[in-house]
Amino acid sequence: MRCGSIEQRPFLYSRYSVQTVIDHREVFGTVRRGMIPAHIYNDKELFALEKERLFSRAWMFVAHESEIPQDGDYVVRRVLDDSFIIARDSSGQVRALFNMCLHRGMQLCRAEMGNASNFRCPYHGWTYRNDGRLTGLPFHREAYGGDEGFAKNQTLLPAPNLASYNGLIFINLDAAAEPLEDFLGDFTFYLDYYTKQSARGLQVQGPQRWRIKANWKIGAENFAGDMYHTPHTHASIVDIGLFREPKAQKRKDGATYWAGRGGGTTYKLPPGSFNERMRYVGYPDDMIGRIKEVWTPRQQRVVGEDGFMISAATCFPNLSFVHNWPKLPGSDQVLPFISIRQWQPISENETEVCSWFAVDSAAPADFKKDSYQAYLMCFGSTGMFEQDDVENWVSLTTTAGGSMARRLLLNSRMGLLSDDRPVTEALTAESFHGPGRAQVGYNEYNQRQLLNLWAEAISA
Ligand code: FES
Ligand SMILES: [Fe+2]
Repeated sequence: MRCGSIEQRPFLYSRYSVQTVIDHREVFGTVRRGMIPAHIYNDKELFALEKERLFSRAWMFVAHESEIPQDGDYVVRRVLDDSFIIARDSSGQVRALFNMCLHRGMQLCRAEMGNASNFRCPYHGWTYRNDGRLTGLPFHREAYGGDEGFAKNQTLLPAPNLASYNGLIFINLDAAAEPLEDFLGDFTFYLDYYTKQSARGLQVQGPQRWRIKANWKIGAENFAGDMYHTPHTHASIVDIGLFREPKAQKRKDGATYWAGRGGGTTYKLPPGSFNERMRYVGYPDDMIGRIKEVWTPRQQRVVGEDGFMISAATCFPNLSFVHNWPKLPGSDQVLPFISIRQWQPISENETEVCSWFAVDSAAPADFKKDSYQAYLMCFGSTGMFEQDDVENWVSLTTTAGGSMARRLLLNSRMGLLSDDRPVTEALTAESFHGPGRAQVGYNEYNQRQLLNLWAEAISA
């Protein structure tokens, strides 16, 4: 039997047969039309391509500078299969050292974090300074002939590229990568809302880490723009009165924006001045004062004039943020919190979630404590939002791994008419002062942007 074309059967992928060999051009072509081959959420072959072409070239978040405040502090972080020691060396310089001993390849540092002037390999005892220099070998003279036989002027392999933005440390495995700020582009405008709330900058706590049987792209897409799921997936949180915002009527009044390599969602705030609107989401006046010192007038106008408050966002490929303001139990007060999260791929159907709590370093102690409680209630391994979300993502991934999923195109065209005109026009520069494109209401513009970047990266 001959089956219809994609146009006639919009949900049918290619021929109505199980495709054993994937035609990548067809995958990327359909993604660009907003129709998503379901198997991309659980596909070994595509995961191999993601490793080779995407994660080895993109800027990857590894740590925040506040995790290593003192000389000698370090954390151990991974970029997929590669482990790095992110260390502040004894002269204060931040380094990303490939965590593999130069002798016979043992993982040099086995701890997750700590403070050390030296790292000693557990296998044969080679020792390195915290700037990566090899300084000691047991029996150097007897076994290697001393400095003449084997000079110690070697260092651990540094990450090919390292840069930071507002204390967020990124590395890139591609030595020829474009500069970090070019990579982020105009998304930095929005990144500031999460990561710069005073001149002292952010402090982070964590990460909590756990594994979920879900493909990494699903979390990234969800945080980038899925306002549509909030009233439905998280209905129980609204029902028990802990969160006033996700009600369907409110969520659809928010705007989604996309700029540079990232995008996110916002909530529409009630009328008021900048200060009133910041108070509405729970910021105390002294924090609002400090925020005004560091957010540009344009950044303040998005809140104070346009009336939008940033909520969840994703920076391509796998770094997400969330800013929410639930009610604490037993209180009518809302409390804002910020979380940074990374969807660290383990395989095509497993992800390690890394979730940090973030708060302005200059915030009052009480605010920090309550904000942390608000975060734990909503996100992190026991958070209510997190539990609701992951249930969906695991189910989607499992279903995407079967043979029928290789025949199905998922519809990710929300916000587009059949001739590709938008359902809702983009906000004008007068009604939304942020860079990039923004529009009010439910749509999948950002999910499409993210997957288009994905397709572009792995087809390059
Ligand atoms: S592998 Fe590290 S000292 Fe031998
Ligand atoms: Fe969610």
